[in-house]
Amino acid sequence: MTSERTFIAIKPDGVQRGLIGEIIGRFERKGFKLVGIKQLIPTRELAENHYKVHRGRPFFAGLVDLITSGPVVAMVWEGDCIISSARKIIGATKPLEAEPGTIRGDLAINISRNVIHGSDAVETAEFEINLWFKASELNI
Ligand code: RTP
Ligand code: MG
Repeated sequence: MTSERTFIAIKPDGVQRGLIGEIIGRFERKGFKLVGIKQLIPTRELAENHYKVHRGRPFFAGLVDLITSGPVVAMVWEGDCIISSARKIIGATKPLEAEPGTIRGDLAINISRNVIHGSDAVETAEFEINLWFKASELNI
């Protein structure tokens, strides 16, 4: 088992719907460790950088509009194989295809308002953690 860190964000729709505690609770109950957390309204620059792999896709502008529309709870979580485990906990991108028991399967119906983001690979986790957090904002 390798201990990893991943970047998890509760998107503005999740914050607005009052799901912060529910979502943090699921990661805590699984046994993962929270090593950084803050709430912020991302700038367009931050959002476009975060989603740069999707630049040019038809949904890109709407995606950036939504993630900058209100407060986001940005977090770094740590644990064994957490990157892939978190993606399982989160569920499929399309909430109607997400399995019951997953965050999106239980709590969302709309692909644009799918509540939460989680890094999808080791490289993206490292990029996203460095994009959203300074080293001094994280546990050692
Ligand atoms: P995320 O990056 O937010 O964790 O979601 P994901 O990996 O499951 O999905 P990804 O393919 O990275 O897409 C990023 C976000 O863009 C929105 N999206 N809309 N309308 C569409 O066809 C479409 N496709 C993707 C979703 O909000 C998705 O979470
Ligand atoms: Mg993604």
